[in-house]
Amino acid sequence: MLEQALEEIEAAADERALQQVRVAWLGRKGRVTEQLKGLGALAPDERREAGASINALKSAIQDALARRERELEEARVREQLERERVDVSLPGLRPAAGAHHLLTQVMHKLTDVFRSLGYEVVVGPELEDDEHNFGALNFPPEHPARDTQDTFWTTDGRLLRTHTSPMQVRYMRSHRPPFRVVVPGKVFRNEAVDATHEAQFHQLEALVVDEHVTMADMRGAIEAMAVALFGPGTRTRLHPTFFPFVEPGAEFAIWWTHPKTGREEWLELGGCGMVHPNVFRAVGYEGVTGFAFGFGLERMAMVTYGVSDIRDLYRGDVRVLRQFRGVA
Ligand code: DAH
Repeated sequence: MLEQALEEIEAAADERALQQVRVAWLGRKGRVTEQLKGLGALAPDERREAGASINALKSAIQDALARRERELEEARVREQLERERVDVSLPGLRPAAGAHHLLTQVMHKLTDVFRSLGYEVVVGPELEDDEHNFGALNFPPEHPARDTQDTFWTTDGRLLRTHTSPMQVRYMRSHRPPFRVVVPGKVFRNEAVDATHEAQFHQLEALVVDEHVTMADMRGAIEAMAVALFGPGTRTRLHPTFFPFVEPGAEFAIWWTHPKTGREEWLELGGCGMVHPNVFRAVGYEGVTGFAFGFGLERMAMVTYGVSDIRDLYRGDVRVLRQFRGVA
């Protein structure tokens, strides 16, 4: 009998099956229980003997059940651990993280450079008026830049700023020199859009005013920027030219090694000059001098990072944007 019980216990494949075996042998109507019930019908001597052997059988079955129960429990835990095992060697799923746009990166790099040179970073409105964008900057009334060909005018006579220079006027009217500021921001021109022209682009403007600011200071500032951006030994060049709000005025270029072609060449960046006396007059300044410069960021970003079509900077194609994640 014990043999049969042990066989059944061994054969129980899970805890439920084992429970059935337990009931079949030790339950209220189980085979061992039935035998115990039968003891009453025996003579005392036989009863003692039979009782002892049934009890031995019972406890052997109990032991076997307990052992099998442990086995099944262990097997269940092992199987569960196996099923829920974490493969730490599997490469994780990288969440798609956002990143700053190439132009934002270039802008941050520039403002970092100027902050380190002691400049304050300020921003101005994109919707301007004629007075700030042109008038106070010494543009004569008939200046062609005012033409609707170049400028987006609103129906109420205001305009989208065509450069960041109007912030020169706003800053000077609300501050006293000496100061050094840079103004990054969006500007707008009514351009026919092609690979190198967009109707919206970005500029960075610098303005320094003090009692004895000279053109040599301006050169030094432009050179310091060039060195900070492109490394020691970077040279700069000024070329005389005309802007209404500076006198003398110049274009500036940086002699650099093109990172893609490896060729050394001049990179024409923007305009600069000594703040025109008429501009100081318009903002009520006396007894000071100053310089200003301004340049576009798109061109700088494009030549530096090999973007051949300016429209790629504005299309929002993530494949393009992804290429320039964290480059600047
Ligand atoms: N505002 C000029 C433009 O958009 C660029 C410029 C030229 C800015 C000379 C200046 C400057 O500050 O001194 O074309």
